Amino acid sequence: MLPLLRERGLVTYRIGVIGGDGIGPEVIAEALKVVDATGIAYEPVTYDLGGTRYLATGEVLSDETIEGLRSMDAILLGAIGTPDVPPGVLERGLLLRLRFELDLFVNLRPFLAPAGPLNDGVDMIVIRENTEGTYLGEGGFLRKGTPQEVATQGSLNTRFGVERCIRYAFELAESRPRKHLTLVHKTNVLTFAGDLWQRTFDAVATEFPSVTTGYDHVDAACIHFVQRPERYDVIVTDNLFGDILTDLGGAIAGGIGRAASGNLNPSRTGPSLFEPVHGSAPDIAGTGAADPRAAILCAGMLLEFLGETKAAQRVASAVNESDDVLGSTAEIGSRIAERV
Ligand code: NAI
Ligand code: MG
Repeated sequence: MLPLLRERGLVTYRIGVIGGDGIGPEVIAEALKVVDATGIAYEPVTYDLGGTRYLATGEVLSDETIEGLRSMDAILLGAIGTPDVPPGVLERGLLLRLRFELDLFVNLRPFLAPAGPLNDGVDMIVIRENTEGTYLGEGGFLRKGTPQEVATQGSLNTRFGVERCIRYAFELAESRPRKHLTLVHKTNVLTFAGDLWQRTFDAVATEFPSVTTGYDHVDAACIHFVQRPERYDVIVTDNLFGDILTDLGGAIAGGIGRAASGNLNPSRTGPSLFEPVHGSAPDIAGTGAADPRAAILCAGMLLEFLGETKAAQRVASAVNESDDVLGSTAEIGSRIAERV
Protein backbone atom coordinates (compact mmCIF):
# COMPACT_ATOMS: atom_id res chain seq x y z
CA MET A 1 0.00 0.00 0.00
CA LEU A 2 2.83 2.42 0.80
CA PRO A 3 4.22 2.53 -2.78
CA LEU A 4 0.74 3.25 -4.18
CA LEU A 5 0.21 6.10 -1.75
CA ARG A 6 3.67 7.36 -2.53
CA GLU A 7 3.01 7.46 -6.28
CA ARG A 8 0.11 9.74 -5.50
CA GLY A 9 2.47 11.95 -3.52
CA LEU A 10 0.87 11.01 -0.21
CA VAL A 11 3.80 9.34 1.52
CA THR A 12 7.29 10.50 2.27
CA TYR A 13 9.33 7.76 3.91
CA ARG A 14 11.12 8.73 7.07
CA ILE A 15 14.51 7.05 7.05
CA GLY A 16 16.63 7.01 10.19
CA VAL A 17 20.27 7.58 9.23
CA ILE A 18 23.07 6.49 11.56
CA GLY A 19 26.41 7.23 9.88
CA GLY A 20 28.39 6.11 12.94
CA ASP A 21 32.17 6.11 13.04
CA GLY A 22 35.14 6.07 10.66
CA ILE A 23 34.11 5.34 7.07
CA GLY A 24 30.47 4.87 8.18
CA PRO A 25 29.35 8.45 7.46
CA GLU A 26 31.45 8.51 4.26
CA VAL A 27 29.76 5.46 2.70
CA ILE A 28 26.29 6.43 3.95
CA ALA A 29 26.59 9.83 2.24
CA GLU A 30 27.08 7.97 -1.06
CA ALA A 31 24.19 5.60 -0.34
CA LEU A 32 21.89 8.60 0.18
CA LYS A 33 23.19 10.17 -3.04
CA VAL A 34 22.00 7.05 -4.85
CA VAL A 35 18.62 7.03 -3.06
CA ASP A 36 18.21 10.67 -4.13
CA ALA A 37 18.87 9.60 -7.71
CA THR A 38 15.94 7.14 -7.62
CA GLY A 39 13.54 10.02 -7.05
CA ILE A 40 11.93 8.30 -4.06
CA ALA A 41 10.39 10.86 -1.69
CA TYR A 42 12.01 10.49 1.72
CA GLU A 43 13.04 12.50 4.71
CA PRO A 44 16.38 11.52 6.31
CA VAL A 45 16.38 11.79 10.09
CA THR A 46 19.98 11.81 11.30
CA TYR A 47 21.07 10.17 14.57
CA ASP A 48 24.50 10.89 15.98
CA LEU A 49 25.53 7.54 17.51
CA GLY A 50 28.73 5.55 17.86
CA GLY A 51 32.12 5.45 19.51
CA THR A 52 33.06 9.06 18.82
CA ARG A 53 29.86 10.29 20.42
CA TYR A 54 30.26 7.87 23.34
CA LEU A 55 33.78 9.16 24.04
CA ALA A 56 32.51 12.75 23.92
CA THR A 57 29.29 12.35 25.95
CA GLY A 58 29.44 8.99 27.78
CA GLU A 59 26.14 8.01 26.20
CA VAL A 60 25.77 4.89 24.03
CA LEU A 61 22.04 4.75 23.22
CA SER A 62 19.26 6.46 25.16
CA ASP A 63 15.69 5.19 25.51
CA GLU A 64 14.58 8.39 23.81
CA THR A 65 16.74 7.65 20.77
CA ILE A 66 15.32 4.14 20.58
CA GLU A 67 11.78 5.54 20.59
CA GLY A 68 12.75 7.98 17.82
CA LEU A 69 14.22 5.18 15.73
CA ARG A 70 11.16 3.01 16.38
CA SER A 71 8.98 5.60 14.62
CA MET A 72 11.03 5.47 11.37
CA ASP A 73 9.94 3.55 8.26
CA ALA A 74 13.47 2.11 7.95
CA ILE A 75 17.00 2.69 9.23
CA LEU A 76 20.29 2.91 7.35
CA LEU A 77 23.45 2.41 9.41
CA GLY A 78 27.10 2.87 8.34
CA ALA A 79 29.41 1.35 10.94
CA ILE A 80 29.99 1.63 14.65
CA GLY A 81 33.38 1.34 16.35
CA THR A 82 36.39 3.38 17.40
CA PRO A 83 39.68 1.91 18.64
CA ASP A 84 39.52 3.69 22.03
CA VAL A 85 36.24 2.13 23.19
CA PRO A 86 36.60 -1.17 25.10
CA PRO A 87 35.17 -4.28 23.37
CA GLY A 88 31.52 -4.97 24.06
CA VAL A 89 30.42 -1.45 25.00
CA LEU A 90 29.15 -0.51 21.55
CA GLU A 91 28.41 -4.03 20.31
CA ARG A 92 26.19 -4.88 23.27
CA GLY A 93 25.03 -1.35 24.12
CA LEU A 94 24.19 -0.22 20.62
CA LEU A 95 24.25 -2.79 17.80
CA LEU A 96 22.84 -5.76 19.70
CA ARG A 97 20.50 -3.57 21.75
CA LEU A 98 18.93 -2.17 18.56
CA ARG A 99 18.41 -5.72 17.27
CA PHE A 100 16.71 -6.76 20.50
CA GLU A 101 14.67 -3.57 21.09
CA LEU A 102 13.42 -3.34 17.51
CA ASP A 103 12.95 -7.14 17.35
CA LEU A 104 15.11 -7.45 14.22
CA PHE A 105 14.96 -11.22 14.37
CA VAL A 106 16.19 -11.98 10.86
CA ASN A 107 19.63 -11.05 9.56
CA LEU A 108 19.58 -11.41 5.79
CA ARG A 109 22.76 -11.41 3.71
CA PRO A 110 22.71 -11.96 -0.05
CA PHE A 111 25.78 -13.21 -1.90
CA LEU A 112 26.17 -12.94 -5.65
CA ALA A 113 29.30 -13.63 -7.71
CA PRO A 114 30.11 -14.95 -11.19
CA ALA A 115 31.99 -18.21 -11.69
CA GLY A 116 35.69 -18.02 -10.77
CA PRO A 117 38.76 -20.23 -10.44
CA LEU A 118 37.49 -21.86 -7.21
CA ASN A 119 33.81 -22.46 -8.03
CA ASP A 120 30.91 -22.16 -10.48
CA GLY A 121 29.49 -18.95 -9.06
CA VAL A 122 27.46 -17.86 -6.06
CA ASP A 123 23.81 -16.86 -5.80
CA MET A 124 22.62 -17.44 -2.27
CA ILE A 125 21.04 -15.75 0.72
CA VAL A 126 21.96 -16.53 4.31
CA ILE A 127 19.24 -16.07 6.92
CA ARG A 128 20.81 -15.76 10.34
CA GLU A 129 18.74 -15.79 13.53
CA ASN A 130 19.51 -12.41 15.04
CA THR A 131 18.15 -12.21 18.59
CA GLU A 132 19.01 -15.48 20.36
CA GLY A 133 21.73 -18.13 20.61
CA THR A 134 25.09 -17.37 22.15
CA TYR A 135 24.72 -13.64 21.43
CA LEU A 136 21.87 -13.07 23.86
CA GLY A 137 24.36 -12.54 26.68
CA GLU A 138 23.41 -15.47 28.92
CA GLY A 139 26.23 -16.47 31.26
CA GLY A 140 28.63 -14.97 33.73
CA PHE A 141 31.80 -15.21 35.77
CA LEU A 142 32.61 -16.95 39.01
CA ARG A 143 35.79 -16.12 40.96
CA LYS A 144 36.75 -13.57 38.30
CA GLY A 145 40.42 -12.62 38.33
CA THR A 146 41.48 -15.65 40.37
CA PRO A 147 43.31 -18.77 39.09
CA GLN A 148 40.03 -20.67 39.67
CA GLU A 149 38.08 -18.31 37.42
CA VAL A 150 35.05 -19.75 35.61
CA ALA A 151 33.24 -18.18 32.66
CA THR A 152 30.08 -19.55 31.05
CA GLN A 153 28.36 -18.31 27.91
CA GLY A 154 25.12 -20.07 27.19
CA SER A 155 23.19 -20.48 23.97
CA LEU A 156 19.53 -19.63 24.36
CA ASN A 157 17.16 -21.03 21.74
CA THR A 158 13.39 -20.70 22.01
CA ARG A 159 10.89 -22.59 19.88
CA PHE A 160 9.20 -19.26 19.16
CA GLY A 161 12.42 -17.54 18.07
CA VAL A 162 13.73 -20.44 16.01
CA GLU A 163 10.39 -21.09 14.35
CA ARG A 164 9.75 -17.52 13.19
CA CYS A 165 13.23 -17.33 11.69
CA ILE A 166 12.89 -20.68 9.92
CA ARG A 167 9.42 -19.76 8.64
CA TYR A 168 10.80 -16.54 7.14
CA ALA A 169 13.55 -18.57 5.43
CA PHE A 170 11.00 -20.99 3.92
CA GLU A 171 8.88 -18.08 2.65
CA LEU A 172 11.95 -16.54 1.06
CA ALA A 173 13.05 -19.86 -0.50
CA GLU A 174 9.53 -20.38 -1.88
CA SER A 175 9.75 -17.00 -3.64
CA ARG A 176 13.00 -17.85 -5.45
CA PRO A 177 13.34 -19.87 -8.67
CA ARG A 178 15.28 -22.78 -7.12
CA LYS A 179 13.12 -23.05 -3.99
CA HIS A 180 15.81 -24.78 -1.96
CA LEU A 181 16.51 -24.25 1.74
CA THR A 182 19.46 -25.66 3.70
CA LEU A 183 19.64 -25.78 7.47
CA VAL A 184 23.18 -25.28 8.76
CA HIS A 185 23.96 -26.24 12.36
CA LYS A 186 26.05 -28.70 14.32
CA THR A 187 23.29 -31.08 15.37
CA ASN A 188 25.68 -33.98 16.00
CA VAL A 189 27.47 -32.15 18.83
CA LEU A 190 25.04 -29.43 19.96
CA THR A 191 22.43 -32.06 20.66
CA PHE A 192 19.98 -29.83 22.54
CA ALA A 193 19.92 -26.64 20.50
CA GLY A 194 20.55 -28.60 17.30
CA ASP A 195 17.67 -30.94 18.04
CA LEU A 196 15.29 -28.01 18.57
CA TRP A 197 16.43 -26.41 15.30
CA GLN A 198 16.12 -29.67 13.31
CA ARG A 199 12.68 -30.58 14.68
CA THR A 200 11.39 -27.06 14.09
CA PHE A 201 12.84 -27.06 10.56
CA ASP A 202 11.19 -30.40 9.75
CA ALA A 203 7.84 -29.26 11.17
CA VAL A 204 7.77 -25.97 9.25
CA ALA A 205 8.90 -27.78 6.07
CA THR A 206 5.54 -29.58 5.91
CA GLU A 207 3.88 -26.19 5.30
CA PHE A 208 6.08 -25.58 2.22
CA PRO A 209 5.78 -28.67 0.00
CA SER A 210 7.27 -26.86 -3.02
CA VAL A 211 10.54 -26.11 -1.19
CA THR A 212 13.25 -28.79 -1.28
CA THR A 213 15.42 -28.99 1.84
CA GLY A 214 18.91 -29.98 2.89
CA TYR A 215 21.13 -30.03 5.95
CA ASP A 216 24.86 -29.36 6.40
CA HIS A 217 27.02 -29.24 9.49
CA VAL A 218 28.60 -25.81 9.81
CA ASP A 219 32.16 -27.04 9.36
CA ALA A 220 31.23 -28.86 6.15
CA ALA A 221 29.35 -25.77 5.02
CA CYS A 222 32.62 -23.81 5.23
CA ILE A 223 34.18 -26.19 2.70
CA HIS A 224 31.13 -26.05 0.42
CA PHE A 225 31.09 -22.23 0.57
CA VAL A 226 34.54 -22.18 -0.99
CA GLN A 227 34.36 -25.18 -3.34
CA ARG A 228 30.69 -25.72 -4.16
CA PRO A 229 28.66 -22.65 -3.22
CA GLU A 230 26.29 -23.42 -6.13
CA ARG A 231 24.77 -26.11 -3.91
CA TYR A 232 23.12 -23.34 -1.88
CA ASP A 233 20.06 -21.20 -2.59
CA VAL A 234 18.78 -20.07 0.83
CA ILE A 235 20.51 -21.06 4.08
CA VAL A 236 19.06 -20.71 7.56
CA THR A 237 21.28 -20.89 10.64
CA ASP A 238 21.74 -19.65 14.18
CA ASN A 239 23.28 -16.38 15.34
CA LEU A 240 26.90 -17.47 15.90
CA PHE A 241 27.23 -19.78 12.89
CA GLY A 242 25.56 -17.10 10.77
CA ASP A 243 28.00 -14.44 11.88
CA ILE A 244 30.99 -16.53 10.84
CA LEU A 245 29.50 -18.03 7.66
CA THR A 246 28.47 -14.63 6.33
CA ASP A 247 31.99 -13.25 6.66
CA LEU A 248 33.13 -16.27 4.66
CA GLY A 249 30.32 -15.55 2.19
CA GLY A 250 31.60 -11.99 1.81
CA ALA A 251 35.10 -13.28 1.13
CA ILE A 252 33.95 -15.61 -1.70
CA ALA A 253 31.50 -13.12 -3.24
CA GLY A 254 32.86 -9.70 -4.10
CA GLY A 255 34.76 -8.95 -0.90
CA ILE A 256 33.96 -6.84 2.13
CA GLY A 257 33.34 -3.75 0.00
CA ARG A 258 30.19 -5.35 -1.44
CA ALA A 259 28.71 -7.30 1.47
CA ALA A 260 25.37 -5.85 2.53
CA SER A 261 22.95 -6.96 5.22
CA GLY A 262 19.43 -6.36 6.42
CA ASN A 263 18.37 -6.71 10.05
CA LEU A 264 14.70 -7.39 9.45
CA ASN A 265 11.54 -7.26 11.46
CA PRO A 266 9.45 -9.30 9.02
CA SER A 267 6.31 -8.86 11.15
CA ARG A 268 6.69 -5.13 10.41
CA THR A 269 5.79 -4.01 13.91
CA GLY A 270 8.65 -1.51 13.50
CA PRO A 271 11.43 -0.46 11.13
CA SER A 272 14.07 -2.77 9.71
CA LEU A 273 17.73 -1.76 9.76
CA PHE A 274 20.17 -2.08 6.86
CA GLU A 275 23.97 -1.97 7.26
CA PRO A 276 27.10 -3.00 5.41
CA VAL A 277 28.86 -6.07 6.83
CA HIS A 278 32.14 -4.15 7.12
CA GLY A 279 33.13 -2.03 10.11
CA SER A 280 34.35 1.53 10.50
CA ALA A 281 37.77 0.77 8.94
CA PRO A 282 39.75 3.34 10.95
CA ASP A 283 42.82 2.48 8.85
CA ILE A 284 41.32 4.14 5.76
CA ALA A 285 38.85 6.62 7.30
CA GLY A 286 39.18 10.09 5.80
CA THR A 287 41.29 8.93 2.85
CA GLY A 288 38.51 8.44 0.31
CA ALA A 289 39.55 4.81 -0.15
CA ALA A 290 36.37 3.28 1.29
CA ASP A 291 34.27 1.39 -1.24
CA PRO A 292 30.68 2.65 -0.85
CA ARG A 293 29.13 -0.25 -2.79
CA ALA A 294 28.10 -2.27 0.30
CA ALA A 295 26.32 0.75 1.76
CA ILE A 296 24.65 1.49 -1.59
CA LEU A 297 23.47 -2.13 -1.85
CA CYS A 298 22.03 -1.71 1.66
CA ALA A 299 20.05 1.29 0.46
CA GLY A 300 18.75 -0.91 -2.38
CA MET A 301 17.70 -3.61 0.09
CA LEU A 302 15.99 -0.95 2.20
CA LEU A 303 13.97 0.25 -0.81
CA GLU A 304 13.07 -3.35 -1.66
CA PHE A 305 11.80 -3.96 1.87
CA LEU A 306 9.68 -0.79 1.69
CA GLY A 307 8.09 -2.23 -1.46
CA GLU A 308 9.89 0.11 -3.87
CA THR A 309 10.87 -2.81 -6.08
CA LYS A 310 11.67 -0.88 -9.26
CA ALA A 311 13.90 1.64 -7.53
CA ALA A 312 15.58 -1.20 -5.63
CA GLN A 313 16.33 -3.10 -8.84
CA ARG A 314 17.80 0.01 -10.46
CA VAL A 315 20.12 0.47 -7.49
CA ALA A 316 21.18 -3.19 -7.42
CA SER A 317 21.88 -3.30 -11.16
CA ALA A 318 23.83 -0.05 -11.05
CA VAL A 319 26.08 -1.51 -8.34
CA ASN A 320 26.39 -4.97 -9.90
CA GLU A 321 27.41 -3.41 -13.23
CA SER A 322 29.93 -0.99 -11.71
CA ASP A 323 33.11 -3.06 -12.00
CA ASP A 324 34.53 -0.47 -14.39
CA VAL A 325 33.99 2.36 -11.88
CA LEU A 326 37.15 3.33 -10.03
CA GLY A 327 38.02 6.35 -7.93
CA SER A 328 37.42 7.81 -4.50
CA THR A 329 34.44 6.99 -2.29
CA ALA A 330 32.60 10.08 -3.55
CA GLU A 331 33.50 9.47 -7.19
CA ILE A 332 32.23 5.89 -7.10
CA GLY A 333 29.02 7.06 -5.40
CA SER A 334 28.43 9.77 -7.99
CA ARG A 335 29.06 7.46 -10.94
CA ILE A 336 26.67 4.83 -9.59
CA ALA A 337 24.07 7.52 -8.84
CA GLU A 338 24.31 8.74 -12.46
CA ARG A 339 23.54 5.23 -13.71
CA VAL A 340 20.44 4.90 -11.51
P1 NAI B 1 36.57 -3.45 9.24
O1 NAI B 1 35.53 -4.09 8.41
O2 NAI B 1 36.32 -2.07 9.68
O3 NAI B 1 37.96 -3.43 8.42
C1 NAI B 1 38.63 -4.63 8.01
C2 NAI B 1 39.51 -4.32 6.79
O4 NAI B 1 38.68 -4.15 5.64
C3 NAI B 1 40.31 -3.04 6.93
O5 NAI B 1 41.57 -3.22 6.36
C4 NAI B 1 39.51 -2.02 6.18
O6 NAI B 1 40.29 -0.96 5.64
C5 NAI B 1 38.87 -2.86 5.09
N1 NAI B 1 37.56 -2.33 4.71
C6 NAI B 1 36.41 -2.38 5.45
N2 NAI B 1 35.41 -1.79 4.79
C7 NAI B 1 35.91 -1.35 3.62
C8 NAI B 1 35.34 -0.66 2.51
N3 NAI B 1 34.05 -0.29 2.47
N4 NAI B 1 36.13 -0.38 1.46
C9 NAI B 1 37.44 -0.75 1.48
N5 NAI B 1 38.02 -1.40 2.50
C10 NAI B 1 37.27 -1.71 3.56
O7 NAI B 1 36.83 -4.42 10.47
P2 NAI B 1 37.80 -4.21 11.74
O8 NAI B 1 39.06 -3.54 11.30
O9 NAI B 1 37.85 -5.52 12.39
O10 NAI B 1 37.01 -3.25 12.71
C11 NAI B 1 37.17 -1.83 12.76
C12 NAI B 1 36.12 -1.26 13.68
O11 NAI B 1 34.81 -1.48 13.14
C13 NAI B 1 36.12 -1.89 15.06
O12 NAI B 1 35.88 -0.88 16.00
C14 NAI B 1 34.98 -2.86 15.00
O13 NAI B 1 34.43 -3.10 16.27
C15 NAI B 1 34.01 -2.14 14.11
N6 NAI B 1 33.05 -3.03 13.40
C16 NAI B 1 31.77 -2.59 13.34
C17 NAI B 1 30.81 -3.32 12.67
C18 NAI B 1 29.43 -2.77 12.61
O14 NAI B 1 29.21 -1.58 12.78
N7 NAI B 1 28.43 -3.58 12.36
C19 NAI B 1 31.13 -4.60 12.02
C20 NAI B 1 32.56 -4.94 12.09
C21 NAI B 1 33.47 -4.17 12.78
MG1 MG C 1 30.58 -10.41 11.72
